[in-house]
Amino acid sequence: MAIFNSNDIYPVSADSTLPFAQHRDIFYLSGVDQEESVLIIFPDATKKEYKEILFLKETNEHIAVWEGEKLDEESAFTTSGIKTVYWLQDLEKVLFELMTMASAVYINTNEHYRANVETQTREARFIKALQKKYPAHTYLRSQPILQRLRSVKEKEEIALIQQACDITEKGLRRVLKFVKPNVAEYEIEAEYIHEFTINRATGFAYTPIVASGYNACVLHYIENNQVCKDGDIILMDVGASYANYASDMSRSIPVSGKFTERQKDVYNAVLRVKTAAAKLLVPGTIWADYHIEVGKLMTKELINLGLITSEDVKNEDPKWPAYKEYFMHGTSHHMGLDTHDYGILTEPMQAGMVFTVEPGIYIPEENLGIRIEDDYVIQEKGEPFNLMANIPITVDEIEGLMK
Ligand code: GLY
Ligand code: MN
Ligand code: MN
Repeated sequence: MAIFNSNDIYPVSADSTLPFAQHRDIFYLSGVDQEESVLIIFPDATKKEYKEILFLKETNEHIAVWEGEKLDEESAFTTSGIKTVYWLQDLEKVLFELMTMASAVYINTNEHYRANVETQTREARFIKALQKKYPAHTYLRSQPILQRLRSVKEKEEIALIQQACDITEKGLRRVLKFVKPNVAEYEIEAEYIHEFTINRATGFAYTPIVASGYNACVLHYIENNQVCKDGDIILMDVGASYANYASDMSRSIPVSGKFTERQKDVYNAVLRVKTAAAKLLVPGTIWADYHIEVGKLMTKELINLGLITSEDVKNEDPKWPAYKEYFMHGTSHHMGLDTHDYGILTEPMQAGMVFTVEPGIYIPEENLGIRIEDDYVIQEKGEPFNLMANIPITVDEIEGLMK
């Protein structure tokens, strides 16, 4: 038997809360995008109606008036295909019966390689209580199963990610017309969210980065509160989310509408690395080996740009190669329901996986940071499919649209 919980609605203070964001696992498995929901999958259940069960927050006409429409038995079935639906207050009683029929329970702990969780999630709270009440059961991990399932996308999922990418494209096109010297980074952010919202995006897929000049060299710059100066480059790492699916784009554009020769050289170096790196995303590639290959591509470009020397490369520490001084982050991550999505990085890449490709060169002494990022689907054969192929990317396209 496997059990999955919704996220909590997080309080701010007094009676205000953050907007609800569903846990991606229960959403992936059931389509239920509602707080206080529990999904139980029990294929070995002796009673047929117990093979799949949803527990939902009770709704009735009175609650609908105050809180709006919530799932009832019928709409929960339409959403999830699950016929057995209980109200949440029945969970303890029904779970007791289920636990007497199961010897092992799959629990859903967060094992994402980048996870850094300081709060106790609803899932974690549930697991703690379950193990206390039922200490004699065997507990197993659903994470490896979910990581494998979610990393290979269904065609319906690819279509939703494509839609998110297409909305992101609209945002960028709007911004290319909008940017001129002395606009503020937050004004650019506002242009994106305006375009995203009118195109029915769920919102930003992650906190957007709009970083002009030196700010682009601060990798997690999210303040977006500076004015864009003539002559600077703006690094924008922004993506729309659609139906809870992410897109993840980076584009670096000149405030003035025209790149300087030096900016163009650095830009084209990053673009060449992006194009060559993407070709390596084929079934069988191992994520760590891929990064070594991308490192070699970047090393060559940095030597040509005069940023590092062959001597630096000869003397480099293999654990922190010379190129890392100007390109210190990873090149690719899985993307899907989470921006940094699930996937077991030590296992070979497979068709249907979606990866970003996002090399960058950051030169603080020149107040210049350039990152270019597209999202790709690995194919059975040949090069990966670029979901962002229509998003302007070359110097000529960007300058042309900003004119
Ligand atoms: N925007 C987050 C990332 O590029 O990984
Ligand atoms: Mn990004
Ligand atoms: Mn990314």
